[in-house]
Amino acid sequence: MTVESVRPASPHARELPDPPFAGGGVPLLGHGWQLLRDPLGYFARLRDHGDVVRLKLGPKTVYAATAPELVGELALNPDYIIGGPLWESLEGLLGKEGVATANGPTHRRQRRTIQPAFRLDVLPEYGPVMTEEAQAFARRWQPGEVIDCTSESFRIAVRIAARCLLRGDYMDERAERLCAALATVFLGMYRRMVIPAGPLYRLPLPANLTFNRALADMHLVVDEIVAERRASGQKPDDLLTALLTAKNENGDPIGEQEIHDQVIAIVTPGAETVASTIMSLLQVLAEQPEHADKVAEEAESVGGDRAVAFADVRKLAHTNNVVVETMRLQPPVWILTRRAVAETELGGYRIPAGADLVYSPYAIQRDPRSYERNTEFDPDRWLPERVKDLPKYAMTPFGVGNRKCPSDHFSMAMLTILTAEVARKWRFERVPGSRDAVRVGITLHPDRMLLRAIPR
Ligand code: HEM
Repeated sequence: MTVESVRPASPHARELPDPPFAGGGVPLLGHGWQLLRDPLGYFARLRDHGDVVRLKLGPKTVYAATAPELVGELALNPDYIIGGPLWESLEGLLGKEGVATANGPTHRRQRRTIQPAFRLDVLPEYGPVMTEEAQAFARRWQPGEVIDCTSESFRIAVRIAARCLLRGDYMDERAERLCAALATVFLGMYRRMVIPAGPLYRLPLPANLTFNRALADMHLVVDEIVAERRASGQKPDDLLTALLTAKNENGDPIGEQEIHDQVIAIVTPGAETVASTIMSLLQVLAEQPEHADKVAEEAESVGGDRAVAFADVRKLAHTNNVVVETMRLQPPVWILTRRAVAETELGGYRIPAGADLVYSPYAIQRDPRSYERNTEFDPDRWLPERVKDLPKYAMTPFGVGNRKCPSDHFSMAMLTILTAEVARKWRFERVPGSRDAVRVGITLHPDRMLLRAIPR
């Protein structure tokens, strides 16, 4: 039992009222059917019912927080830990022993193992790989070629993460397998989260078999990466070596399962979130030509006759604002859950011990109470003179507090360099047959977008 699970109840919490129920639930499925039918709209409308509301997902009651300050409270109050429907549905993928799902002392130890790879003073070392990959990415296409944004985005996301953090070359075949498997796995996990009907998912139905095959392949890819490194006998100074040589609280080497779960917990969410953001950025470059032109001009003026580099990231101010605004409107991690380990309080309401809580960065980042013209794409809202009025925690695409994404600066640098290099070489046009609508699963991104690349 962890320290977190035995914390005593806050003395005044039980005198507080329960939050109201959101309207629109149906027998058996509760609000789950709305989360399947129109999840984004549903979450955005929840704020009209209150800052904290109760939902029914199948037999479960879930508490939703809809105001930015409560996101901060969920992240910073130790009464809430990683848990709840999202993490339960992800356990089949992420395992129980990786950093993304662990809590308490194990989580702190694991963060200490991985954090050095993402330290600000280490990031410049990844710069040459980011620039090289961004340049190669922008040079892959022929003029007029129709590009499949999903596979291209996964390919580059996996390549950069693998080359920087796992020092693995030649990842294309694995990137393709990961891309195919993750698409199936993340969609299946979303279904399992909103309709938690355990036994149904164990039936030998075609959808379940496809899901199980995809999951097995994901684990196989990770086993291959670990086995190859061990067989090579090499110990480069990277994240994989840090994981393979990590020690537990007693000073003993960590077990095989933990090594496996740690690699999974880093590679798979990293690939899925970065790939989703790249897809959204390509969509922005196609749909917002005036901003695409501005990004291209900025990249030209900063880079000149060379590719933009890590040291240029600070000078790519508009490009950075385009990336941030893209993540505001389409955050890849659009839903997060927590579990209360003690009876506690949120927004003036009683939260019972064991309660599952949920919030949506998508809904928070589009809240008209925080953002003027909330649905408009406006990168200039991130100019220093305008951003100062933004409420705290109104923009948290990488999370907050001790569970904040360790890769925030790494990802922002990579995405800025990539956007600049792509925009200075190409314009993008929509093509028939492209499925541009947003696809909602555990992450958010354009469904199966095809774009024609036109040279500048
Ligand atoms: C955690 C978003 C890229 C590894 C998180 C969380 C968010 C997030 C919101 C916090 C979850 C929570 O509060 O419950 C993103 C976004 C990314 C990105 C938007 C890119 C655009 C990456 C990459 C990696 C990575 C590239 C690794 C290569 C992790 C890990 C955690 C995490 C290991 C768990 C941290 C913990 O629980 O202590 N990410 N992420 N992420 N992310 Fe990222």
